Amino acid sequence: MVAIAVVAAVIASLVAVLIRWLPESASEEMDRITFVFWFATIISIGIFALVAAVIIEAVWAFRVQPDDDTDGPPIHGNTKLEIAWTIVPAILVISIGVVSAIVLSKNANAGSDPLEVKVFAQQFAWKFEYPGKVQTEELVMPLHRSVKFEMQSADVIHSLWIPQMGQKQDVVPGITTKIVITPTRTGNFTLICTELCGLGHATMRAPVRVLDQAAFKRWLDDQRAAGAGAATGGGAAAGGSSGGQSGGGAAAAGDAALGKTTFASAGCGGCHTFKPAGTDAQVGPDLDNLVADAKKAGEPEDQYIEQSIVDPEAVIVSGYQPGVMPTTFGKTLSPAELSGLVAFLSGKEAN
Ligand code: CUA
Repeated sequence: MVAIAVVAAVIASLVAVLIRWLPESASEEMDRITFVFWFATIISIGIFALVAAVIIEAVWAFRVQPDDDTDGPPIHGNTKLEIAWTIVPAILVISIGVVSAIVLSKNANAGSDPLEVKVFAQQFAWKFEYPGKVQTEELVMPLHRSVKFEMQSADVIHSLWIPQMGQKQDVVPGITTKIVITPTRTGNFTLICTELCGLGHATMRAPVRVLDQAAFKRWLDDQRAAGAGAATGGGAAAGGSSGGQSGGGAAAAGDAALGKTTFASAGCGGCHTFKPAGTDAQVGPDLDNLVADAKKAGEPEDQYIEQSIVDPEAVIVSGYQPGVMPTTFGKTLSPAELSGLVAFLSGKEAN
């Protein structure tokens, strides 16, 4: 029986060790989660070896003999054995519970100087806001500093998960949920939505970058400077920078430049193909066909585009279903962002 147990334990251990079940850790929280994983796995391997050995031994040693029709001996319990198989699993399960509780509490602790980042989730995009109202579509985190996320959803339940960082938390409309991540290595990762949230769920991802603290500070300062420039002058400032870059037309180009950033920040590319934005998703209509679609709807192009953003149910392009595109953009986009989007989508952009 001991031999069988040893063989079972070796096989189970090989399966546990040889297959890479978890991604390489990139956060303190993931290190702790990995510890819980191995703590429970090692206990499970021990139990598996014991159970496998007893079953195989019992099946083999007590198998029925040919022509043996007699009943087995009457047995009534075994008090010592029953006490053992009650107490030992109880201790093991409680120890897993205690270890998990300690890790959960440590993983929820952001320490004394966390970076606070607000997360806005919507079908089907992520947006992040750093102190000083810096909004980005990319999540950038400083190395070895705890980042405390405060998360809100504009529509349905989403869930934030960066596989290498372990932590996972639902984003629920109506409440603010929190999670802490402390990166332990620099590099590029992917934030993935892990709650089935609609047709574009699989496309709801965001790039994640971990920078060392000096590089992070430079990045944040750059973002603040860029944000301040755009905010003070509104469309005019954006137009100035884009005009300089492209040499394009005046007022319309300014709007379109804002529209281009809005296209990214509002997550339009999560569902729509639009060549000028370099997106190729196919959940919603191809926005390169807007001129034709407006004609079919019998409306001027600009009016058609604005209506389709604010009230997406008004005209459903054939081949697509109603009820997929969020109807909240009329509220969440500013008038400047909306008119910018219309300009960008109608091609009034110098590129
Ligand atoms: Cu958001 Cu799935």
